[in-house]
Amino acid sequence: MGSMYQGDIEIIEADTRLRYAQCVQIRTRVFVIGQNVPAEREIDQHEDVCLHYVALAGAVPVGTVRWRTYAPDTAKIERLAVLDGARGRGIGSGLMAYLLDEIPRHPEFSYVKLASQDHAIPFYTAMGFEVIGDAFDDGGLPHHDMILKLRVCSNGGK
Ligand SMILES: CC(C)(COP(=O)(O)OP(=O)(O)OC[C@H]1O[C@@H](n2cnc3c(N)ncnc32)[C@H](O)[C@@H]1OP(=O)(O)O)[C@@H](O)C(=O)NCCC(=O)NCCS
Repeated sequence: MGSMYQGDIEIIEADTRLRYAQCVQIRTRVFVIGQNVPAEREIDQHEDVCLHYVALAGAVPVGTVRWRTYAPDTAKIERLAVLDGARGRGIGSGLMAYLLDEIPRHPEFSYVKLASQDHAIPFYTAMGFEVIGDAFDDGGLPHHDMILKLRVCSNGGK
């Protein structure tokens, strides 16, 4: 079952080979072709442990994201990508909103981490993420780590 966003946008878990292939195809177009990230870096050793999601616009795959356990109390969101022609319609923020609803269902996580390309820092800041640490290069692109502390809901604590 997926979630509907903005009319015809549906987000579903990419839990079949076909859906995963659609995620990789979007990532290839956005990161490898669009941003010159080396293909051998784009697909990494974490693929199998990640949960992958695809955003469909009228059933056409247009966006993707994945997440995984990074540390016992920290989830990490990676590979957020929306096809060029589908940007600016809320699909990227919809994929993030989906994961920021999903990840807190796993009570072990207190933090969500990601490595933002520098141009996208304002996009994640708007969702509550904060920059931590110094700039670094990944795949030839400048990045900063960002972190979001999840609210603790039990006992009215903070
Ligand atoms: C970053 C990306 C995923 C955003 O996807 P999108 O579907 O266009 O984003 P949305 O339409 O949900 O945008 C939500 C808001 O963020 C803003 N925004 C989008 N991309 C932004 C960026 N790169 N920098 C700053 N703000 C951005 C939008 O203007 C919008 O603001 P608004 O709500 O005030 O109108 C998309 O541009 C993309 O795939 N880029 C290339 C790959 C990439 O850089 N991925 C991120 C890796 S860390």
